[in-house]
Amino acid sequence: MISTLLSRTPRGSDGDPAPRLLYGADYNPEQWPREVWEEDVRLMREAGVNLVSLAIFSWARIQPSADVWDFGWLDEIMDLLHAGGIGVDLATATASPPPWLTTAHPEILPVTANGETLWPGARQHWRPTSPVFREHALRLVRALATRYADHPALVAWHVNNELGCHNVYDYSDDAARAFRDWLRARYGTLDALNHAWGTAFWSQRYSDFEQILPPRLAASHPNPTQQLDFKRFSSDALKDHLRAEREILREITPEVPVTTNFMVMGGTKGMNYPDWAAEVDFVANDHYVVPGPRDRDELSFSANLTSGIASGRPWFLMEHSTSAVNWQPVNVAKRPGELARDSLLHVAHGADAVCFFQWRQSAAGAEKYHSSMVPHAGADSDLFRAVTGLGATLGSLAPIAGSEREPARVGILYDWESWWASEQDSHPTSLLDYRREALDWYSALLDLGIRADLVTTRADLSRHQVLIAPVLHLVTAELAKELTRHTEQGGHLITTYFSGVVDENDHVWLGGYPGALRELLGIRVEEFGPLLAGDTVELDDASTGSLWTDRISVTDSGTEVLAHYRTGVYEGRPAVTRRAAGAGSAAYVSTRLGVDGLTALLPRLLAPAGVTSELPEGARGRVETTVRSGPGGRFVFLVNRTDDTVPVPGLTGDVLLGTTGADGSPVLGPREVAVLRQTAG
Ligand code: GAL
Repeated sequence: MISTLLSRTPRGSDGDPAPRLLYGADYNPEQWPREVWEEDVRLMREAGVNLVSLAIFSWARIQPSADVWDFGWLDEIMDLLHAGGIGVDLATATASPPPWLTTAHPEILPVTANGETLWPGARQHWRPTSPVFREHALRLVRALATRYADHPALVAWHVNNELGCHNVYDYSDDAARAFRDWLRARYGTLDALNHAWGTAFWSQRYSDFEQILPPRLAASHPNPTQQLDFKRFSSDALKDHLRAEREILREITPEVPVTTNFMVMGGTKGMNYPDWAAEVDFVANDHYVVPGPRDRDELSFSANLTSGIASGRPWFLMEHSTSAVNWQPVNVAKRPGELARDSLLHVAHGADAVCFFQWRQSAAGAEKYHSSMVPHAGADSDLFRAVTGLGATLGSLAPIAGSEREPARVGILYDWESWWASEQDSHPTSLLDYRREALDWYSALLDLGIRADLVTTRADLSRHQVLIAPVLHLVTAELAKELTRHTEQGGHLITTYFSGVVDENDHVWLGGYPGALRELLGIRVEEFGPLLAGDTVELDDASTGSLWTDRISVTDSGTEVLAHYRTGVYEGRPAVTRRAAGAGSAAYVSTRLGVDGLTALLPRLLAPAGVTSELPEGARGRVETTVRSGPGGRFVFLVNRTDDTVPVPGLTGDVLLGTTGADGSPVLGPREVAVLRQTAG
């Protein structure tokens, strides 16, 4: 629980025992001479920093060779930080194996699907399934845990770093062995595996587990279920490494919470985080903005999804950037106000910690152009002043610490298995983008000023009156039942193209698509009609579809057609439908409408549930709102999504952050955030 972490973190200099929001960064003192360390601690105090993540890439420094250990420097910095009132989230330092280890044991290096070795020289060059790597990594974890078990600066453990960032898919012989073991455990018998993988196709039948390989570079499309299982296995292999490190930490320091930093952000899909969440004592996430249209919608979406993964409980923003990163084609600097607004948007979605990569900008190495809290220019800089300003703001938001997300009436279901399965090769289209579709729905709701929670299939789906399930491609019999039950009890389901098509083995539900949801939706699709890139179809409600169309027949008298295709191969046929199901309804959108199309359609889809915006009219679409609540009150966040000044009339509460107009209600300057505290009730 994050409460354990909050209670372990040093108190403010005012001695106030109440928990505070955490503020800090990855700290890499080994890159700097000793004399900089004291200045670092002084500046951290000035900035309001109360926590740093230490030793993330320190393996080669801590263990310079197999039997030599050097903890002196780490002891010293731990002591200095503690004396400065700064807690340490201490890394297990296993993310980047040192050169002596990879030279002695090149068999720990990952191998690509093409059989190429990923050589040392960067980081994370290790196989999740290598027994040799595991042994060396765990030896290091044990040494660190034993050494710092009683150090007063230690507030949490940070396992490895961004597990799977560079090494999620390894096709080595170690991986092959571990994959076979994983398959034996999943299927028990070869017959069951042969059935699940549909090996009657293309003469793929296995007569011995030893014949099975990871889906390495092949002559054509590898078996789809083999590919899906390899994704499941690869996520599990990393999860297994997380557990192995965690077990040692729990054995030696049972009272110290353990986490690892997830990467819920665009482009990262290999790790099934909803499945990992129970393995850590609190969820931590890293997020980087990729500049472009609606980039802050993506930030909000990722933060919201992290909250869903954390089951609505507070979580820890382990890394984001104060300004530019170094790894995009063009690394755009943040504009004034964005450092604070981006940080507070994470807090709005449940973050109790705001941390950056990294404290002091490196002078050398691949990340020397990555922004940090102390830039190359030094503390006399606008950036450091913004950092210090944010520290003060977070100080004033202390009452929020520990509060949970207050559920919204609308939930968007985000499912890793459907993500993986819907984007595999040899499909009707290679242009489908699972995350994009979910994000479009989210943006449309933001544009309408309607609060929505991202939820995962592990959540209690009945909590949301309206459940939007974009591209819910893989639907098990149990999930289909759960969704049906939801509508029977008055819930409203909205789903889209390519949903309910396959089961957990990636076998098509037969008899007409979307097999698993056909009855619930009261429709039957005989054929998919994917569209070429750039092609569109018109609907008779004046919207435009792209990417996908379906040849839909209505099969139930209770199904109403909300829009028909006006053009295209399926001209005149239904495009958007809704069936009154039980006490609720089930709607289907058969094409990609994009944000504008969804913004136009959503009010009709939400009408049966009576869901409308909680924001006053002038603020809708311009302001994002979230609610956190706990013993300290009900906290309403208002985040200005625009570059204009936006008044939000009619909202009451104590103003914890932000400015107010003559009538006492919040007025948000460009990119500003306000927080109102209302009495819980
Ligand atoms: C993360 C990583 C950090 C740093 C950062 C740069 O992926 O955990 O160590 O590399 O990206 O944006």
